[in-house]
Amino acid sequence: MALKVKLSENVYWLGFNDRRKHLFENQWPLEKGITYNSYLISDEKTALIDTAEAPFSGDLVDWVAELLEGKTLDYLIVNHMEPDHSGAIKEIVSAYPNIIIVGNRKTQPLLEGFYGITENYQTVDEGETLSLGEHTLQFFTVPMVHWPESMVTYETSKNILFSNDAFGSFGTLNGGVFDDEIDLDTSFYNEEIRRYYSNIVGKYGAQVQKALAKLSGIEIKLIAPSHGVIWRSQIPYIIDRYNTWSKMEGEKGAVIVFGSMYGNTEKMADYIARFLVEEGIKNVKVYDAAKTHSSHIINDIWKYKAVILGSCAYNGGIFPPMAHLLSDLEHYGLKGRYLGIFGSASWGGGGVRAINNFAERIKWDIVGEQVEARCAPKDSDLEKCRSLAKEMAQKLLEL
Ligand code: FEO
Repeated sequence: MALKVKLSENVYWLGFNDRRKHLFENQWPLEKGITYNSYLISDEKTALIDTAEAPFSGDLVDWVAELLEGKTLDYLIVNHMEPDHSGAIKEIVSAYPNIIIVGNRKTQPLLEGFYGITENYQTVDEGETLSLGEHTLQFFTVPMVHWPESMVTYETSKNILFSNDAFGSFGTLNGGVFDDEIDLDTSFYNEEIRRYYSNIVGKYGAQVQKALAKLSGIEIKLIAPSHGVIWRSQIPYIIDRYNTWSKMEGEKGAVIVFGSMYGNTEKMADYIARFLVEEGIKNVKVYDAAKTHSSHIINDIWKYKAVILGSCAYNGGIFPPMAHLLSDLEHYGLKGRYLGIFGSASWGGGGVRAINNFAERIKWDIVGEQVEARCAPKDSDLEKCRSLAKEMAQKLLEL
């Protein structure tokens, strides 16, 4: 039986909770799962907007058939070809062989490449409309939010923006589907929305800014993304969050990440954290790079302005889990952070040197003097940690 959750009359949410997948894109942890949202409009003509991951194909086909009550499915709108949304296309086409697949010029090669589908394809251009009867769909491309072919679909009569990845979230929908059905302040969604943004779309901040500018001219009463919560009461909030995150603005707070084999670099991290708090900084996060997946660390680094990185040396270089994190951060091209550097070396070093090399490439503002302890930190090293924390706190308090 399909859940009959309506966005408006004859517009349905078809969402599927995935609690079995451990890693999204086979790399990002899904401790709280993920939802794939598809949407159905049943009018004189009918349209399905995006599908779901392949394992949910059977349920999606069943739900569509039930909600259409004997009508055929005329259109499949493909906002994005990543297989978390396109994975059920072949099953939909099998169930409705005459269906017209609607996408833009960049969609079609991916449709053929992933699924070998070349027929019954309709290309839409920027701003073009498609009438279903009482409902009209309008299409806007949003390149690199998240892939080159990404687009959003705007339903003009009810002002619904089917935004695909944009404004989406990790985390399953646990009963509540709309933002006003969930206590966002006490739920996990705020963290999971930013983690989704930073991990999946974060690299493309400039393109997100262009998309926000493009969409600023249309009236939006509902944002229906393809992952997570549907926005209807807090639309300005989520748009404001996207604006802040895509501009890579950091809040008053610090993320300390360390790589430590025997606890010496970790000890320095703890002292720096305490010294920051003593200087008036309330938001301080400390992470062991070997224990916490970079997904979560990146999420906090996206939030806070100060990043303080420390590593022991390992085989003449940096501790490998820290190398992984630094590589991720370079990949995203995150800008505008204050950077503090610390670590330890027992003989030739390598950890602090590698963080300095990273600093040159990423061009963040280095704050304070770096601290590199010999083997275990001495009181003099910990006093240098205090100085580093003090300078970082002063910079943060100026925000
Ligand atoms: Fe949710 Fe880029 O796919």
